[in-house]
Amino acid sequence: MTDDALAFYEQLANDYHLIYSDWEQSIQRHAAALDRVIRFHLPGDGLTVLDCAAGIGTQAIGLAQRGYRVHATDLSPAAIARAAQEAARRGVALTTGVADFRTLAGQVPGVFDVVLACDNALPHLLDDADLLRAAENMRAKLRPGGLLLLSIRDYDELRREQLRVTPPTVIDAPEGRRIVFQVWDWAPDGRTYTLELFIVRRAGDGWQTGSYRARYRALERAELGAILTRAGLTDIRWYMPQDVGFHQPIVTARPA
Ligand SMILES: C[S@@+](CC[C@H](N)C(=O)[O-])C[C@H]1O[C@@H](n2cnc3c(N)ncnc32)[C@H](O)[C@@H]1O
Repeated sequence: MTDDALAFYEQLANDYHLIYSDWEQSIQRHAAALDRVIRFHLPGDGLTVLDCAAGIGTQAIGLAQRGYRVHATDLSPAAIARAAQEAARRGVALTTGVADFRTLAGQVPGVFDVVLACDNALPHLLDDADLLRAAENMRAKLRPGGLLLLSIRDYDELRREQLRVTPPTVIDAPEGRRIVFQVWDWAPDGRTYTLELFIVRRAGDGWQTGSYRARYRALERAELGAILTRAGLTDIRWYMPQDVGFHQPIVTARPA
C-alpha cells in the first residue's frame, strides 16, 4: 500500500496545492491552529519539529515561518522536493529529506520536541502492524517529554455515513476555474475505501480532468488511540475542529 501512496503523491506533487481554494491561506490557518495545540503542551520558542508526512509543506512551511525549527520528511521525493522549493521561494528555513514514517528511527538522526504527521497521512497504512511500526518510529524520534501530533479525517462519522462523493469545490483563480471533488468506493467490510480525486480545470472552451487514486483505511479514533498506547505513548487527547480550528480531528500523545 505504500507503493500506492507513493504513486499517488508523486503524480500529484505539482498540483497538490490546487486542492485548496487558497493554499497560501491554508498554510497560515494550519500553522495557527497547530501552534495553539503545541503551545498548550510545550510553551516556549524555537521548538524543533519533525514533520514526517510533510508533503509539499503545508504545515512545515507555516510552522517554520512562526519560528519553529522544522525538518520536513516525506515518502514522496517529488513532494518533498517541492516543499524545499516552496520554502526557499519564501525565504523560509526548512531542512528536508525522504523517509518512510515506518522506518524513521533508522532514516532521520536526532530527536525532536514535536513529531507531526497531518492531513490524513497515517490512514494510507491499511493494517495494524504497519500503523504500530509508524507509531513506534514516531515515538522514537521524540525527546523525553516531547509531543506527537497527528491529524486524520473524522472516520467515526464518515464510516457511519459511508461517504460516496465529496461536495465539489468550485475555485475561481486568476488562471481560471477549477472544480475539485473525490469519489469513494468502499470495500464490502466498510473498513477501507479507494479514493479517486478529480481536479477538473478550464482549458480554453473545454475542461481538462486530472484523476488520482489511492486506498485508505477508515481509521476510527479508538483504533488509532489503541495503536498509540501499544507504541508506548500516553496522555492521548483529541481536539475536534470546532475546538481548535483545524479542519480535521487532531490527536496528541506523549512518550510514556
Ligand atoms: C494528504 S498528504 C498531506 C501532506 C502534508 N501534511 C500537507 O498537508 O500538505 C499525506 C502525505 O503523507 C505522505 N505519506 C504517506 N505514506 C507515508 C509513509 N509511509 N511515510 C512517509 N510519508 C507518507 C504522502 O507522501 C503525503 O505527502
